[in-house]
Amino acid sequence: MMVEKMSNIEEEVNRRRTFAIISHPDAGKTTLTEKLLLYSGMLRTAGMVSGRKGAKSASSDWMSMEQERGISISSSSMQFEYKGHKINVLDTPGHSDFSEDTYRTLTAADSVIMVIDSSKGIEAQTLKLFDACRLRNIPVITFINKMDLYGRDPIDLMEEVENVLGIQASAINWPIGYGKEFQGVVDRATNECHFYTRIASGGSLKPEVEYVKVDDLTPRENLSAAEVEELQENLMLLDEAGNEFSREAYLDFKVTPIFFGSAMTNFGVEPLFDSLIDFAPSPWSRKAVNKAEEKVEVDVMNPDFSAFVFKLQANMNPKHRDCIAFLRINSGKYEKDMTVLHSGTGKKVRLASPHSLMAAERVTVEEAYPGDVIGINNTVGLGIGDTLCTKGNLKFEALPQFQPELFARITPKDLGKRKQIDKGLTQLAKEGTVQLLHEWKDSYSYPFVAAVGRLQFEVLQHRLNEEYGVDTKLEMLPYACSGWLKGDPAIFKTPYSARMVQDKDERPMILFSSQWEKEYALKENPDHELLDYA
Ligand code: G4P
Repeated sequence: MMVEKMSNIEEEVNRRRTFAIISHPDAGKTTLTEKLLLYSGMLRTAGMVSGRKGAKSASSDWMSMEQERGISISSSSMQFEYKGHKINVLDTPGHSDFSEDTYRTLTAADSVIMVIDSSKGIEAQTLKLFDACRLRNIPVITFINKMDLYGRDPIDLMEEVENVLGIQASAINWPIGYGKEFQGVVDRATNECHFYTRIASGGSLKPEVEYVKVDDLTPRENLSAAEVEELQENLMLLDEAGNEFSREAYLDFKVTPIFFGSAMTNFGVEPLFDSLIDFAPSPWSRKAVNKAEEKVEVDVMNPDFSAFVFKLQANMNPKHRDCIAFLRINSGKYEKDMTVLHSGTGKKVRLASPHSLMAAERVTVEEAYPGDVIGINNTVGLGIGDTLCTKGNLKFEALPQFQPELFARITPKDLGKRKQIDKGLTQLAKEGTVQLLHEWKDSYSYPFVAAVGRLQFEVLQHRLNEEYGVDTKLEMLPYACSGWLKGDPAIFKTPYSARMVQDKDERPMILFSSQWEKEYALKENPDHELLDYA
């Protein structure tokens, strides 16, 4: 019986791919997600997500996808089959939703697809998220999108990936033509050109593909003899001077495979999706500490259930003040209504009726495996990073906190509500809504609130009002970046408009008015370091 269960877990783990798509807003993440659904057969036509622009967030895009098709989507992940594999795509909120949740979601991913707009190259949000992947060694596949527009030179873009991100780039395929003449890609492993036919429906259907060996390539419509020659030369150059790709190096964060394409027209998207199956990792064993505070690796094939909370979402339904805890399973099998232990408190928690929350009809999850995400009603006060398991009192390694870039002072409009706001801030900071900072060496001083994204402040004010009955005033502070101080705080020369504060664990942090000031402070204090995360 046991043996049978084990092999079942192994099979389920091996066929799973849990990943997140990271990008700067507008690079094409939503379009690519839609196309993944199109190619997986979940959608017969793509393009039903209307009104993407403006205030709508990625999660509400997902909600409308779900309403259309009844796809199992929670606000945190989406699960479906692709070519015999089970895919979990995690939602990494971007746009105005960019927040610490975006980083935390990466803790639940086994790999990442990074989407780059071919005309823009590496943009700020992509860089930040890429750095978070590096910290956790989460392998990254790169998709250079919008090749149907006149963007930058492909070689240039690859060089930018190498120089700005500090990782080797290895082209898995190569574009044939640019802009209006973009007509396909060459698969470098097989030396085969994939020519796509543009179809009138503007990418809502799969295009037809014609396969031609590079050696057999002759001039054709939109591809002159000179262009054929240039393509062949470029490919030769890549063979000679380009970085080699190996799965080991990719898994080791030494190289990122590069795919070129256009999510809008579907050119080159199938090879990208296939790479998830061909070389992206299935759920991997995660590091944890056990009861004896020893570092251990929790084998993903271990039959004992373990999972951790990577996101909390409150008040999704304003009629019910519920809070949902999203768990990523790291080992074992989840079975409906199972009871597990909450590491830390040792309390028993019944995982009753998890569901994909935003489903038109709430779909109850009957069973789930490593790599899967389940959402449960957080009636027991679970916090971000908490571990639930059946054995061993484990605690999984958490993603560090990232330097906040927005700072504010929050006060109750009615000064008589001091007690309520204190209680609310303490609880909401514990849930990870914002970070609380105090004056250096003064934990009793009135706290500042700090965040990675503006939305966090909006959520904070909303929840203080709804749940703690405090109407608040938010006053932004003139700091733009920060860093955790390594070195003796007593001898740190703090620049004039910077400020030394302490975080919840009483670690010293410096808030700076600009990146320039931060760099200046580093020069002035050569014996100190300023860490972007802690
Ligand atoms: P995001 O989730 O990363 O923010 O990006 P999203 O997919 O919403 O795409 C941003 C814009 O870029 C959209 O245009 C989308 O149609 C366009 N786009 C995405 N992929 C490609 C591509 O391969 N080629 C071209 N030419 N455009 C692409 P929009 O005008 O903002 O919205 P919509 O009116 O098209 O929905």
